[in-house]
Amino acid sequence: MEISVKTINLETVKSPCIVVGVSDKRKLSDSAKQLDELANGFISKVLRRGDISGAIDDSLILHNVPGLKAERVLLVGCGQSSEITHAKFQSIVTSASTMLSKASIKNAVICLADLDSKILSNSMQIRLSTEALHQADYRFSELKKEKSPSLTKVTLHFADKKTAAMKKAKLAVQIGNAIGLGRNTSRDLGNLPGNICTPTYLARQASNYDKRYARLKTTILNQKDMEKLGMGSLLSVSKGSRTPPKFIVMQYSGGKKADRPYVLVGKGVTFDSGGISIKSGAAMDEMKFDMCGAAGVMGTMISVNELNLPINVIAIVPSVENMPDGAASKPGDIVTSMSGQTIEVLNTDAEGRLILCDALTYSEKFKPKAVIDVATLTGACVVALGAHPAGLLSNQQKLADQILAAGTECGDRAWQMPLWDEYQDQLKSNFADMANIGGREAGTITAACFLSRFTKKLNWAHLDIAGVAWFGGAKKGSTGRPVPLLTQYLMERCGKQYSV
Ligand code: BES
Ligand code: MN
Ligand code: ZN
Repeated sequence: MEISVKTINLETVKSPCIVVGVSDKRKLSDSAKQLDELANGFISKVLRRGDISGAIDDSLILHNVPGLKAERVLLVGCGQSSEITHAKFQSIVTSASTMLSKASIKNAVICLADLDSKILSNSMQIRLSTEALHQADYRFSELKKEKSPSLTKVTLHFADKKTAAMKKAKLAVQIGNAIGLGRNTSRDLGNLPGNICTPTYLARQASNYDKRYARLKTTILNQKDMEKLGMGSLLSVSKGSRTPPKFIVMQYSGGKKADRPYVLVGKGVTFDSGGISIKSGAAMDEMKFDMCGAAGVMGTMISVNELNLPINVIAIVPSVENMPDGAASKPGDIVTSMSGQTIEVLNTDAEGRLILCDALTYSEKFKPKAVIDVATLTGACVVALGAHPAGLLSNQQKLADQILAAGTECGDRAWQMPLWDEYQDQLKSNFADMANIGGREAGTITAACFLSRFTKKLNWAHLDIAGVAWFGGAKKGSTGRPVPLLTQYLMERCGKQYSV
């Protein structure tokens, strides 16, 4: 889908459809008012008859509106527009997109970036329109015979013709397109099944991106390389699988050579059966999504490359499959991590931390400004926070604050949990330096405590995305989160130039 922004002449534009907003109490948005004037009060008459209330998710298509060259006008309910939030704005755009594709409309002019919100600037509304359109238009039809129709070309109307305002709106579309592409790439990777999306497949995809972007260099480490580095913890997870592990390093150089990089680490368990501590059958298929951390950091690398950010960013993806087998790790096994610390594997289903710890140790060699790991790490995080924010834990409050702020700004939010020393005791082992599980209480925190033992030298944060990375049930599928959050965080590290 091609999305651009312009100041459109609504009277003369010959589009199959113009989309405008109607707020609660049947109040017309600025663009809707303009159309209504051109149409001699036609739209306000329809509203007075009560066909549309203006509530979110309410919409109405009008044909042959007098005074216009466009074939249709789509009225979309915007609720109480002054109180509009990211999530509400995105659902407005989503319902517009759904209406358009139901009517098989391929081409439209959308005028929804004129809401008088206290929270979202008009150019932010352009950015979110762009992001939401890419989301709504996403189809995972690679593996289906039937492909459903989708939009091909959208022009976003932006009324403010002043050079500075239009420049911001153009930047907003560019950011929206970059995040849209990164996020949808991430969704594709997440949605692919475990028999296709193996560690080898992820490595191949990363190498493909490398060909597409001049500033990106990808290196793949194989099992032998990992053995040489002493990644005994990571390798203990893949031992029970017939599919080989891969360690993917994607280096983006947009900054000066000497600039220390930001490092993103993504959990890439392409299927998590639990291993010998095998999971129960219910929804086990969803453990193909256990590589959504990897998908999130790989998708973010796409966004970063599309935006040509003037910083250095490295994505590290330890990727394995966790399976039960004669060669698999057993409860009670003790492994030695790359850091030299030993780990008693009391539960082979707590495998994410076992691969992440070696990746975190590996990341030290880049002398990073900050390291953020992203992982579908604990079911406990789903219980604690549900599907709205990612869990955030960090050994540096300043870094945590930056991530929280980035989440609020872009609408892809995180919520902090405590990483207090008191919880560390739960990881005591009688036989090794630590156990890989900390008991029933505070599962998300003890998982982060485990990781914290490998990040003492790092400015580090951990995002537990177990609740936000995919939907179950009828809407089953990957969400592509936290690509917006990570991209926002990285844009904010480039000064003010990416703020809309
Ligand atoms: N990938 C899972 C976490 C998970 C489970 C995410 C369900 C989303 C939904 C992880 O590897 C895991 O199995 N964690 C265990 C840890 C436990 C054994 C300490 C869990 O959360 O049950
Ligand atoms: Mn597991
Ligand atoms: Zn897992």
